[in-house]
Amino acid sequence: MPPWCARSMTKWMRAAPGVEGGVQETVTGFPRSTVMGALGTERAWMPWPLNEKAGTSAPRASILRAAPSAKPGYGRVLPPLRSLFRWLARIMVSGLSTGRLKKSLRVLSLCTSGALPDRGRGGIPAWLAPPLPWEVRDMGEMSQKCAVVTGAANGIGLAVAQALSAQGARVLMADLDEERGQAAARELPNALFQRTDIASREDCRTLVARAEREWGRLDILVNNAGLQHVSPVEDFPEDRWEHLLRIMLVGPFLLTKYALPMMYARRWGRIINMSSLHGLVASPYKSAYVSAKHGLMGLTKTVALEAADKGVTVNAVCPSYVRTPLVEKQIADQARVHGLSETEVIEKVMLAPAAVKRLLEPSEVAAYVMFLCSEAAGGVTGGAQVIDCGWTAR
Ligand SMILES: NC(=O)c1ccc[n+]([C@@H]2O[C@H](COP(=O)([O-])OP(=O)(O)OC[C@H]3O[C@@H](n4cnc5c(N)ncnc54)[C@H](O)[C@@H]3O)[C@@H](O)[C@H]2O)c1
Repeated sequence: MPPWCARSMTKWMRAAPGVEGGVQETVTGFPRSTVMGALGTERAWMPWPLNEKAGTSAPRASILRAAPSAKPGYGRVLPPLRSLFRWLARIMVSGLSTGRLKKSLRVLSLCTSGALPDRGRGGIPAWLAPPLPWEVRDMGEMSQKCAVVTGAANGIGLAVAQALSAQGARVLMADLDEERGQAAARELPNALFQRTDIASREDCRTLVARAEREWGRLDILVNNAGLQHVSPVEDFPEDRWEHLLRIMLVGPFLLTKYALPMMYARRWGRIINMSSLHGLVASPYKSAYVSAKHGLMGLTKTVALEAADKGVTVNAVCPSYVRTPLVEKQIADQARVHGLSETEVIEKVMLAPAAVKRLLEPSEVAAYVMFLCSEAAGGVTGGAQVIDCGWTAR
């Protein structure tokens, strides 16, 4: 944003009577989605000069909420025609691409439909005070980002895709399950679906090529697709063992390999590998899964070292048991091999080693992923990001 715009916005924020009763919350170091979640439908609408005033290095992590009694003051400060002329003038100064125009109109339609708070037009029609192009661009730090999420039709992958989309990122959702994947993508703004078998080299290449074709860039890669097989080593089907490694280790390697050049070109990128607490510790009867997740830790550390000076961070997220179809399916399998009832599996196998005796929710893992994708996490790389209810503390 040109400095004169910042100055005039700051002046306006000081002068606008409607903002005096507002509450400014400056939130640094927390996933923005957590803040958004806490605020519920009170959507953040934050011209960033106020953030600059607050001196935070994470400018969009501030939330302005108008107190219920506060009267919006935009229209009272600026006569309607003047605001219209200003808007037109600013479009001319900043230049308006088709993309920005589309976004501008989308946000305008949200404003007029009441989905976003009225920005204080003092009785003038909403279309006379549409969002300025640079306000639209600054809605959130994710709004310019393009992401690929694998295994996005269910569970954790779906929660991550939803969180990215909610913050304005464009998301390419990949999964074997075409029906659920297509249905999920239809529900999300800015989301596309591509049927992908991560075990196939060709499918991995096509997936990244699709992102390049659609957007010409790829900023975030979430290697999440995964599956489980529970069996003692001596009975473990050999093809199945190799298949698990293809999906949870070879696939992430291939996607990383194909995605990195686009990230290096922009000198910015985030790769999140969905590992597990089984990337750090082992459990019996899960030799393929534990081997793949430990291998993924090695891949994470290696690529983090190679990519660090090119603006790309690489992290592995290590959750304990999460309430997803993957876990629901393995309760019966674990009951069989351990000789326990399903209730006993949950209590004695899944929750016994944990300090917090519950399953995680997919949205909790997604919130952590969103933090790792943020600017604030620029210094976090090469690590196992543990979210395990205290499992590994013993
Ligand atoms: N659920 C947990 O308790 C838990 C804990 C730690 C780590 N994880 C990891 O999180 C990731 C997601 O697990 P989840 O619990 O959400 O599982 P899930 O079964 O709910 O979802 C996994 C998704 O991956 C897809 N998938 C499977 N094989 C694929 C392939 N060959 N190509 C493309 N997509 C494929 C499935 O269709 C499914 O939609 C996995 O890597 C898993 O190992 C899960």
